[in-house]
Amino acid sequence: MSPAKDSVVALPRTRKQRKRFKRKVKIKAKRRAQKLEKLKERENVTPLVKKYWLQRYDLFSMYDVGVKLDEEGWFSVTPEEIAARQAERCAGAGVVIDAFAGVGGNAIQFAKVCHRVVAVDVDPNKVQLAFHNAKIYGVEDCIDFIVGDFFQLAPFLKGDVVFLSPPWGGPSYKAKENFTLDLLKPKDGHSLFQVAQAITPNIIMYLPRNLDMLQASELSWLSSPPLDVEIEENFVRGNSKGITLYFGDTALHGSVLSFL
Ligand SMILES: C[S@@+](CC[C@H](N)C(=O)[O-])C[C@H]1O[C@@H](n2cnc3c(N)ncnc32)[C@H](O)[C@@H]1O
Repeated sequence: MSPAKDSVVALPRTRKQRKRFKRKVKIKAKRRAQKLEKLKERENVTPLVKKYWLQRYDLFSMYDVGVKLDEEGWFSVTPEEIAARQAERCAGAGVVIDAFAGVGGNAIQFAKVCHRVVAVDVDPNKVQLAFHNAKIYGVEDCIDFIVGDFFQLAPFLKGDVVFLSPPWGGPSYKAKENFTLDLLKPKDGHSLFQVAQAITPNIIMYLPRNLDMLQASELSWLSSPPLDVEIEENFVRGNSKGITLYFGDTALHGSVLSFL
């Protein structure tokens, strides 16, 4: 029986043809491996994460170079554009303490413009991911990674700016009409602010978009004299993602509300 027409493959005869053939096979194998890798990655995308995976390049522009996130990281990382804007306020600063560093979204951007970053997270896996991601952005040498509870470490930390992006309690925070500071985890926003204030008055807080604005500005009154505060709403592609509060020297325009 003669072979089907489709299965007839012209075998390379000359050296040149063999070389070209080998190169083609290699490229095909590489493409197949890349496709498999992408499929595997998609399989790991749980229904909860899917929405965030579609926004992956907003979260990390270098996502395709090998950025890694765990489930909590997907929905809690600060989008890169916002993290870069927050970091701008600290450009040239000595030491920035990122108290809840997660998978490194903010720490990476701080490291690009500041001398040193202290990145703290209570979850060892997050710290590993943050280190891995910082390597992708080539800034791992500018960051001290610490596994630990910020509240326990705070009395021993020194820095020029403290950045606070505590857990908002998962995606369900959106259901609240008015997000009050007592809903923050693992401690309420007032206690957290006071702990940070013992380090420096230059504090940046990244909080949900449905934040109770009155409570937010009241934080500045915890200090005597009251701190300058600037409140900024942060958007990505026209969608509101969160509110950033800048206190002390990080507030460019004292007591104003601005929009990005
Ligand atoms: C909203 S995420 C931070 C995201 C981070 N800004 C980023 O862009 O990747 C909050 C992080 O706080 C960490 N965390 C929770 N309690 C903590 C504590 N007591 N001390 C330090 N980190 C804590 C969680 O493990 C989580 O990774």
